Amino acid sequence: MSTSLMPTYARQPVAFVRGEGIWLEDEHGRRYLDALSGIAVCGLGHAHPRIAAAIAEQAQTLIHTSNLYRIPLQEKLAAELCTVSGMTRCFFANSGAEANEGALKLARLHGHRRGIARPAVLVMENSFHGRTLATLSATGNVKVQKGFEPLVDGFIRVPFDDIAAIEKAAQEHPEIVAILVEPIQGESGVRLPAQGLTTYLSALRQLCDRHDWLLMLDEVQTGNGRTGRYFAFQHSPILPDVVSTAKGLGNGFPIAAVLVAGKASDLFGPGMHGTTFGGSPLACRVALCTIELLRDGAMDNAARVGAALQQSLTARLQGLDIEVTGLGMMIGIILPGDATPLIERGREAGLLFAVSAERRIRLLPPLIMNDSEAEELSERLSRLIRDFLTPGGVA
Ligand SMILES: Cc1ncc(COP(=O)(O)O)c(C=O)c1O
Repeated sequence: MSTSLMPTYARQPVAFVRGEGIWLEDEHGRRYLDALSGIAVCGLGHAHPRIAAAIAEQAQTLIHTSNLYRIPLQEKLAAELCTVSGMTRCFFANSGAEANEGALKLARLHGHRRGIARPAVLVMENSFHGRTLATLSATGNVKVQKGFEPLVDGFIRVPFDDIAAIEKAAQEHPEIVAILVEPIQGESGVRLPAQGLTTYLSALRQLCDRHDWLLMLDEVQTGNGRTGRYFAFQHSPILPDVVSTAKGLGNGFPIAAVLVAGKASDLFGPGMHGTTFGGSPLACRVALCTIELLRDGAMDNAARVGAALQQSLTARLQGLDIEVTGLGMMIGIILPGDATPLIERGREAGLLFAVSAERRIRLLPPLIMNDSEAEELSERLSRLIRDFLTPGGVA
């Protein structure tokens, strides 16, 4: 392991040198089924020929000019994202945390416009919004915050999936101006609202309308086809005021977006927000190609194969004290006890996935995974889990 790198990650002892579709190959030529997609990034799989061609072609034409000038590819991408989402306007950034920073700035502007001097944003327990100072302060995980105090002010936290707690907070905190929430919590282990996405989001929408708050959805992980629709909120009839997204938007090329609609549409004016790299011709060209491929079948595939995968895992793991949950290609498998040793066992068996909050296996496979690949993943992973839970025995 390199000592020249800051040790911010407890990296696994493997290095991948190439990929194709859902497969990765390490430096010794071993193949791995990648059920993590670079943490929900490479939805179209690795080394997609159309993505590779778009990058190569655009790199030979024009990479970067800055936001001081018009960028036609950026305008085209903004229009495309507004079409797929029903939102009105876009700002492009480079990472999920940065997109959320943009959303938080919008919330504060909305508060000041309402005459609230110290506006606050309602955030959730077990949430994850990034590693910058504002986004780690918004994050509902003390491990992410520890050592970085003083945290950024202006966050009020309630449990996820608890409308009554929000109503109580509304009474106690007139300074609230927005809610920032992941429709499905990702990093804390694929947590869906128990009342269902439509009921939860509709209730949040109503509360935001009643109190003149912005409804801001962090779709950094759930966006770009991951759950089988372009954005997770599209499983419901609501339209948020702000959506942040990143990860899958560039299939591995860094690009993020903040989308706005309704009362959030005209909050930013000239000089109020900016970025050197965000929305470069190269990044936008890749994202345009990604969206085209998502609309051309990858998203529908994620919905269909994701549901089949979830069903297959549920069937194969029957009889064990295990819950399988998720939507599309975002699947959680909740074990009765610590599942972290499975990361190494999986890797040794050529399977890549993550474990969160100790007990929750997270699968974020490429959206393009086909039926037989999904069946292979289900078969290999459930065998691994059974062997782990019932060593030497029959479960
Ligand atoms: C929901 C959510 N928001 C924000 C982020 C931060 O994104 P990034 O790592 O690109 O800054 C993540 C990353 O995992 C995420 O899952």
